[in-house]
Amino acid sequence: MEPISIHVNGRSFSRQAEPRTHLGDFLRDELRLTGTHLGCEHGVCGACTVLVDGEPTRACITFAVACEGREITTIEGYDDDAVMQCLRQAFTRHHALQCGFCTPGMLATARDIVLRLPEADEARVRLELSGNLCRCTGYQGIVDAILDVLQQQRANPDVQFEQLRQRAGAPRTAATARVTAARQAEPSLPSPGKPAASDTAADMAEVDPVAMARAKAKGNAIEVHFDVPHPVDRVWDFMGDLPAVASCLPGATIDTHEGERVKGSIAIKFGPMSAAFAGAARLERDDAARRAVLRGAGQDSLSKSRTQGDISYRLEALSAGNTRVHVDMVYALQGPLAQFSRSGLVKDFVRRMVADFGRQITRRLDGQAAPVDAPQATVSVAAVMWGVLWGRIRGWFGRPPRA
Ligand code: FES
Ligand code: FES
Repeated sequence: MEPISIHVNGRSFSRQAEPRTHLGDFLRDELRLTGTHLGCEHGVCGACTVLVDGEPTRACITFAVACEGREITTIEGYDDDAVMQCLRQAFTRHHALQCGFCTPGMLATARDIVLRLPEADEARVRLELSGNLCRCTGYQGIVDAILDVLQQQRANPDVQFEQLRQRAGAPRTAATARVTAARQAEPSLPSPGKPAASDTAADMAEVDPVAMARAKAKGNAIEVHFDVPHPVDRVWDFMGDLPAVASCLPGATIDTHEGERVKGSIAIKFGPMSAAFAGAARLERDDAARRAVLRGAGQDSLSKSRTQGDISYRLEALSAGNTRVHVDMVYALQGPLAQFSRSGLVKDFVRRMVADFGRQITRRLDGQAAPVDAPQATVSVAAVMWGVLWGRIRGWFGRPPRA
């Protein structure tokens, strides 16, 4: 148990919490604030969304102990909030309240949309709401209610809304400043979008071994292999040509490669979410053992997520003309994308991506050119995800009946 002090809905609380207790359980079980609902507990459904220092946050994937000194607002804490008052009335007018399970999270997200996107149209509202799932398929009323509030504000701006908008855009509370300062002080990860003076490839490529060990213990590791119908020496030579290797992965580019230092980027689109990771890595190759490890860190300028990881690969000669490439990945994610880091779907997705990567390597070794637009393309997640989902559906229905 660890002592924590947090501010919830304007009141200060000091309690003991297990390091593993998430904020959702802490709010419900310790503080009896049961308006925060828990659906998936995987960061997917959005039912548990609360404000942490003014930002919508999944309570189910935020540790309570990580909220030391921070300001939390739950659905019970909006009594005097002008935006929430308008939203409540609009939700009632548009029959947006159904079973109500998703409603606290929907309202927190709706408030964020109203404050952050005053010009949002229906398509944008739907996109922003895509992280909040409603089992009743009741989105129309919810979307109409948010559009109604936006329209009211465009027609008759409310001074309280403006103050809240300015506050949301201004530097946040002292607690946020402390967290931001602590994040910037983390030694191994560069701060998003701002290369520091020491932000050389060598500095960025340092991966924290403790973070990697933790990531592995938490299950953020993937082992996969693919076969290439070419001799092991030829495959090993090809794997040393990083720009050629990157051309086998849509969305990936190598910017510089000097000795063992590598800088590059990869763009990914995952449903409504886009990520463009830029980073640096150190490639250590053991020619005798035909194994290599790429250790690197990167940051996504879009979602402000940061990652670090090791990708090890080793080649095994299956026969004179066939090679197996074994790939082991261990990764740590911080920021908004971290909520997906342990989902089985993501692991399936990465496995499919690596399998595609293997097929592309075979094509290149067969003498086929890389697609001309490969460096600009993003990873074709839609196609890969469809394959993943279809594979899962087939798996569910293909299972033999239980005895
Ligand atoms: S319970 Fe937190 S996102 Fe579903
Ligand atoms: S109103 Fe029922 S799940 Fe959203």
